[in-house]
Amino acid sequence: MLNFARCSGSRPVGCRYFSLLRDKNFIGGEWVAASSGKTFQVTNPVNDKVIGIAQDSTPEDAEKAIKVASGSFNMWADLPAKEKGIKLKSLLKLVNSHSDDLAKLITAECGKPLAEAKAEVMYSAGYLEWYAEEAKRIYGEVLAPPNNTRELVVLKEPIGVVGFITPWNFPLAMLVRKAAAALAAGCVCVARPAEDTPFSALALAALVEKAGFPAGTFNVVTSSRSQAGPIGQALCASPQVAGISFTGSTAVGKILYQQCANTVKRLGLELGGNASYIIFPTADLSRAVQGVMGSKFRNAGQACVATNRVLVHESVFDKFSSMLATAVKTQLVSGDGFDPAVNQGPLINEQQFQKVDGIVKDAVSKGARVVSGGGIHPTLKGRFYQPTVLSNITEDMKIYNEEIFGPICPLYKFYSEDEAVTIANSTRRGLANYFYSNDYAQVWRVAKRLESGMVGVNEGLISAAEAPFGGVKESGFGREGSRHGVDDYVHTKYVCFGGLQN
Ligand code: SIN
Repeated sequence: MLNFARCSGSRPVGCRYFSLLRDKNFIGGEWVAASSGKTFQVTNPVNDKVIGIAQDSTPEDAEKAIKVASGSFNMWADLPAKEKGIKLKSLLKLVNSHSDDLAKLITAECGKPLAEAKAEVMYSAGYLEWYAEEAKRIYGEVLAPPNNTRELVVLKEPIGVVGFITPWNFPLAMLVRKAAAALAAGCVCVARPAEDTPFSALALAALVEKAGFPAGTFNVVTSSRSQAGPIGQALCASPQVAGISFTGSTAVGKILYQQCANTVKRLGLELGGNASYIIFPTADLSRAVQGVMGSKFRNAGQACVATNRVLVHESVFDKFSSMLATAVKTQLVSGDGFDPAVNQGPLINEQQFQKVDGIVKDAVSKGARVVSGGGIHPTLKGRFYQPTVLSNITEDMKIYNEEIFGPICPLYKFYSEDEAVTIANSTRRGLANYFYSNDYAQVWRVAKRLESGMVGVNEGLISAAEAPFGGVKESGFGREGSRHGVDDYVHTKYVCFGGLQN
């Protein structure tokens, strides 16, 4: 198992376990320091020990990256689709052959258990595979003209330089999901990864370099939290950036949306969710319990698609809550993600930790009943929160409306299908919803009535490279994954060929 004592201190790459650890920005195919000369420390959320240093870049660095990306655009866009696919396949091969190193890096900087980190690497590889193939299938159209003197053709053209702002909870997969689609479409990229987890993005850049992508097609600029806003603003303000793709909170998404207005940019927003998980009377309760364990406790609840509220029909409420409490008590083990027995890591940082604790305290102070857990972990030091199940939830509690982003599972009792669907839809968020039912007609009816971009029916984990990931309402717009994932990166151009008299 990894010994963090060997990695302590501020040495940037002193740790032999992390062959892909890089401490510079990747701009124009080169590893360069931030122009400010400043760096910041990246720590392991399990014990706050320093993993390494990263560049504390400013808008000046982002602008340099935009400039070199812009310079490489025509060359990349003009490369035949087959060649783009071949490059993506080389990157896929490298991600697969470095999967252990990538997974260790993810666990070290984001705290998720190693098995989950490995699953994230495989998940990322799925997007690379998909878009390596999809590059050849970005089709235009030939339309039926209104008369015989014309031919009407629709072309799909890459939009240009795209800026990515990516989150800490899936630090590799969220970047790969964007970059693979953008590169397949012929775009070039500048990424600013979250300050908590810059190394997964830099590791990807190291593999992009090894795969032989042309210089400037993929750039990474890291920064501390203090520069996150200014760099985001620089990406949004630059007329050389044609589009922004952001995964993160709804609050930040709204700011970026406004900032992109001046240059009328293409925008993809994958924002927060408030997923309901509904258990109808005909549900297979054992499967429903296992489904919610995955959907709620994956990455200790730190996922936008995580179940946020579990609605259980009154006829099965007591049975389900006792089965769930048993599963939570017996199946979940908190600790350092490098320990193979552990399946619940810490919360990423103090801000998240305080937020989750505040949500639980607010609910309990307003009458919520603690079925299991209910507070800070009693024995583990650091930001470990006990996997928690709460019941007696009411609408005035924060937990009813806010995205929890932690291992807290609130249970609500409902009495009719209409009531459950109304509760699930009574939110401004609409990323994912889940339900369990074996009533054939109900399955179709409820799937159609739920107001979200994604619905899991008798499934708690639904993300896949083959499927379009994205939300409605204030969960954002744009889709990632599947053939729809390239739409954010292409313009539709109509060409009319006239004067074609017979
Ligand atoms: C997210 O937190 O939005 C990403 C989760 C996923 O892709 O399944």
